[in-house]
Amino acid sequence: MTNMVAQHRLYGRSAGKPLSERRLRLLAEMLPELSIPEMSEGELNPLELFQSPNEIWLEIGFGGGEHLAGQARLHPDVGLLGVEPFLDGVAKVLGLIEEQGQENIRLRRGDARDLIAQLSPACLDRVFILFPDPWPKTRHHKRRLVRPDFLDRLARTLKVGARVRFATDWADYANRALETFLADGRFLWDASCADDWRIPPSDHLPTRYQEKGLGDCRPVFFDFRFTPHLIQRVT
Ligand SMILES: C[S@@+](CC[C@H](N)C(=O)[O-])C[C@H]1O[C@@H](n2cnc3c(N)ncnc32)[C@H](O)[C@@H]1O
Repeated sequence: MTNMVAQHRLYGRSAGKPLSERRLRLLAEMLPELSIPEMSEGELNPLELFQSPNEIWLEIGFGGGEHLAGQARLHPDVGLLGVEPFLDGVAKVLGLIEEQGQENIRLRRGDARDLIAQLSPACLDRVFILFPDPWPKTRHHKRRLVRPDFLDRLARTLKVGARVRFATDWADYANRALETFLADGRFLWDASCADDWRIPPSDHLPTRYQEKGLGDCRPVFFDFRFTPHLIQRVT
């Protein structure tokens, strides 16, 4: 199989203010060591990036990396992949990794859709999509990450039973993302009461964007389980 590197158009910022000397050093010295290789052909088996991990988790759009680094600290037996196009975020998480001496994180500065296209099938145990860019204007909704074609590509990389967490504090994105997951038909959502999505899951770590509270509703959390054999597509 041949993969195209960087096939998708990214919206939003990919770099911000000038970086401090420390961050420049981290990018120059640490990032090459921790980078998930770009595959121009073949598939990437993330198990090969870590020493005998029990599971592989992916965080999409990790921002400043607090959640990624926090989960990695709590789960040293898990290999965590983080993908983020924003250079400052990548530099920031490198700082956390250095301070905490973490060995179970690998990073891609880029677009999650390109990374997903390069991963081997059924390799992920868990995926976090936490407070993705909301694109609240109707004319920008098509820029949102959670769309049917994205879920279809993500599904290829999920193990049966893999867990996917989506969180947002924008009501329209929450409604549409839930609809999109359920319409796919392979994502089981077993929430039974409002507290199941209104109260942060017990293993959630607050993110920087969440704490800013910029959305138009309180944060909601949807936990799905990938069950391709159980559910019929909703037509
Ligand atoms: C609103 S911020 C949230 C950051 C973080 N998850 C948090 O909650 O603090 C959304 C992040 O997604 C990143 N992002 C946008 N498009 C992306 C893509 N296609 N692949 C990966 N990350 C993306 C942005 O650069 C940004 O850092």
